[in-house]
Amino acid sequence: MKKIFKGDIIYTKNSNSFEVHKDSYLVVEDGVVKDILHYIESIPSDYEYLDYTNKLIIPGFVDIHLHSSQFLNMGLGMDKELIPWLNTYTFPEEAKFRDLEYAKTAYTKFVSDLINKGTTSSVIYSTIHKESTMFLMDLLDKAKLRAYVGKVNMDRNTIDELCENTNYSIEETEEIILSSKSNRVKPIITPRFVPSCSPELMEGLSKLAIKYNVPVQSHLSENTNEVKWVKELHPDIENYASVYNKFGLFGQTKTVMAHCIYTSDEEIELMKKNGVFAAHCAISNFNLSSGIMPVRKYLDYGVDVGLGSDISGGNTLSIPQSIVSTIQASKIKWLESNKELYPLSFSEVFYMATKGGGKFFEHVGSFERGYNADLLIIDDSNLSDINKFDVLDRLQKYIYSGNENNIIGVYVDADKVS
Ligand code: GUN
Ligand code: FE
Repeated sequence: MKKIFKGDIIYTKNSNSFEVHKDSYLVVEDGVVKDILHYIESIPSDYEYLDYTNKLIIPGFVDIHLHSSQFLNMGLGMDKELIPWLNTYTFPEEAKFRDLEYAKTAYTKFVSDLINKGTTSSVIYSTIHKESTMFLMDLLDKAKLRAYVGKVNMDRNTIDELCENTNYSIEETEEIILSSKSNRVKPIITPRFVPSCSPELMEGLSKLAIKYNVPVQSHLSENTNEVKWVKELHPDIENYASVYNKFGLFGQTKTVMAHCIYTSDEEIELMKKNGVFAAHCAISNFNLSSGIMPVRKYLDYGVDVGLGSDISGGNTLSIPQSIVSTIQASKIKWLESNKELYPLSFSEVFYMATKGGGKFFEHVGSFERGYNADLLIIDDSNLSDINKFDVLDRLQKYIYSGNENNIIGVYVDADKVS
């Protein structure tokens, strides 16, 4: 399968600058980028030609932290901090996913919104429930989206309906791993966070992760009360990150930790050493009064950072809105730090939203040769006069002031997503 997409191509190969190819041709073979050409005399007959002249062609957005099961709660419960928010709004909603019919309705709406917002790769939490998790995986696969999906594991400090038997939680997780066959939608081990996972559960999940080489996702240092609680639960372990590390869930296989606001320098160093990704969830951090992650510090340490919508702590799946909030948050952090932690630039954050988070999937989020041809077609004609603005300014205007109506095409591996 060979395809050529023509349009105004823009992406980030590194975080400091954009690669811009106006009026150019993106050449794709078997879903993988082969080349970008500025001139083609005639389209070879064995290529399908997709002419998007005057439209922007950008990488699909990558969301490396979100809770699909909280989709119907989006916009609710904005009056509490993390722990009461979980107990009051989030756990009761997640308990409903025991009912497969409820899950089908909710997840169908969720997947449709994910596509509308142009998110082609995502790292997702479902709930503790095996059947509805497998339904979601199948739905994403049929939609041709790329994703890691994690059945949540919890065996302490949650409501009765969500509190699992430790062995059963591990067994069901293994069943999902063994039954998943898709190349695009894969399982990820998901101990919710330290307060809701016993040491036995964490150890068991680590063994599974290593046995099957499955990645891991969890939450780290999102809220000051949460950090205190972890210290009370594990007084002998020096810090929150080290709890995961001690139980084999911190980079022993590919790992992403969400939030990472109240981490010490030692913890950030451990993330760097173990190759742990950070998912920055700026919008959720505002909504739950969690705080502002010092992203610049992570970049200085060389930690991989991607963006997470973290619905329904976050109130939208829109990665463009996460990009804007991330830049705004970094400017406040700059002021708060006496102008030490320099604000994030547009290219740095666009990179996080594409190639930075995409690294968790390997060759995702860029148009360099060998990358998966996951792309969005953006019609920005209502936002910019293309004769007046260059391609980069048009992109920035779209990210800051556009919306999903500007997205007229979504492709994963050069296949149209629907
Ligand atoms: N920490 C543990 N569970 C959650 C969750 O569902 N959302 C957020 N934002 N933080 C969490
Ligand atoms: Fe979260």
